[in-house]
Amino acid sequence: MRDDNRRIGVMGGTFDPIHNGHLAVAEGARRQFGLDSVLFVPTGKAPHKNNSAISPGALRYEMAALSVSGNLYFDVSKIEIERAGASYTVDTLTELKRLYGKKTKIFFIAGADAMTEMFTWKSPERIFDLCSIIAAGRPEVDGEALNRQLTLARERYGAKIYTLKTPPLAISSSDIRNRVQVERPVKYLLPETVELYIKKHGLYRGDRYDMEEAERWVSSRLSDKRWRHTMGVAEDSVRLAEIYGVNRRKAYITAVFHDCAKELPAAEKLRRCDERGIRLDSVMRSQPDLAHGLLSAEIAKTEFNIEDPEILNAIRFHTTGCEQMSLLDKILLTADCTEPNRINIAGIDAIREAALIDLDKATALCLRMKIAYTELKKQAVHPFSVKALRETENKT
Ligand SMILES: [Fe+2]
Ligand SMILES: [Fe+2]
Repeated sequence: MRDDNRRIGVMGGTFDPIHNGHLAVAEGARRQFGLDSVLFVPTGKAPHKNNSAISPGALRYEMAALSVSGNLYFDVSKIEIERAGASYTVDTLTELKRLYGKKTKIFFIAGADAMTEMFTWKSPERIFDLCSIIAAGRPEVDGEALNRQLTLARERYGAKIYTLKTPPLAISSSDIRNRVQVERPVKYLLPETVELYIKKHGLYRGDRYDMEEAERWVSSRLSDKRWRHTMGVAEDSVRLAEIYGVNRRKAYITAVFHDCAKELPAAEKLRRCDERGIRLDSVMRSQPDLAHGLLSAEIAKTEFNIEDPEILNAIRFHTTGCEQMSLLDKILLTADCTEPNRINIAGIDAIREAALIDLDKATALCLRMKIAYTELKKQAVHPFSVKALRETENKT
């Protein structure tokens, strides 16, 4: 029978964010080594990493706490997060040993990365004295160098190193962060509670736009009809962004702002353009509505701090098109035309169909429609539209 001394697994990591790979390793270790519990210890200021890019400790701790709430054997510790200065594994293990008592056996669960760095850690001999190591990578596939290190650790320090049988899942925190940034799904890669937490706190987006605030702000400046159109454009933009590999979040925010100046009276549009130093050519001056793209971009920039040049450019030229249109430019121009509230427009279904398979073709069709409409009104066609049409038609 095992003695009554406890066996505690300790799993350190940045956990930015914690994911199912971490949890599966911890559970595998708990079962294989008969651990009474596993303690997740999110790192504080990691000595081996550039800390500026890491989410604040409090957030990483909360995500870890949410993940372990369903497992009686799992717990999370704040000891590294609350410690001032750099976090060293040896200090953490010393403190845990003091907390748990001398008779408690500590098993430090280390991934392959951590194992290869072992000898660069502060006081490795003390670490190997304080705990046994469970190597969670697969030394047999992680290369000879790692195997040599393990042998050395055993020989030099009498390190007790065991290998975890559970194969690691192919999930990484950096992949999750990248996915969140471009709004790709992360379902089943991490606990749903953590997924919701990431969404709620806007983690890993790579921008600091508050979408709800943006929606409130723009909708308060538009009629109901124009706002419905805006949301329709957003819906189509996001769909096209998904198809053509553009950041869906960027496409969404572009659509939200694209018409924010549209409903200003013509004279007011001209006045504000002049006031803000937006230079208008003769075609725009004679058709002030064409200038609402330029003005909407300027408003998004100055009043909502949108700085992304791609977003601003797409808003600026959605009325006319422009030379060398980016994917985002084409997406907005097309979605502006195809959005679901546009009904009973000749040729619209063909554009919608084209949009799903050939964005250049869809953009060209939209530009043709704009040009035909302008000619019908006997107004001057903007030269940008002619250039954009030529370019997009040449690509199809
Ligand atoms: Fe517009
Ligand atoms: Fe629009």
